[in-house]
Amino acid sequence: MKNVEKLLVHPQFLTYMALNSEAERDRIFCKHDFSHLFDVARVAYCMALERNLAIPKETMYLTALLHDIAKWKQYKTGADHAVESSTLAREILQDLTIEADEICEAIRTHRKAHLVKTPLGQILYDSDKAVRPCIVCPHIDTCKNFRNGEKPTFTY
Ligand SMILES: [Fe+2]
Ligand SMILES: [Fe+2]
Repeated sequence: MKNVEKLLVHPQFLTYMALNSEAERDRIFCKHDFSHLFDVARVAYCMALERNLAIPKETMYLTALLHDIAKWKQYKTGADHAVESSTLAREILQDLTIEADEICEAIRTHRKAHLVKTPLGQILYDSDKAVRPCIVCPHIDTCKNFRNGEKPTFTY
């Protein structure tokens, strides 16, 4: 996956990941680090195979790796990290001369189920949720995702 290899050494991408890491240094809840991004990429790929979707593996990895690159911005300004990540991802993809529309649309909608419109967007949305090991998390009682007393379900 040549384009994934190019992304993983892209200076802007690495800068944003460093900003995420800095912003989440003391965070007790799930982080938005390389582990999370690769977890999403792998589970997205599994889901696409299970659903017989013809989404190229490289497109899925690029989408997953870029989907949270502006999480640091959300901590800083309150901006929606899905929208901001989509904007930052477009700049990087254009710099790498990779077609950006489909990927950026999936990233933009990855926080809200009702916004998702494409198969790639659905896979990103589903895999992003499925990778979190909430069922064994010691902080579930104070996690905002479970504030209504919801119980976590099976994790991939
Ligand atoms: Fe996210
Ligand atoms: Fe995520």
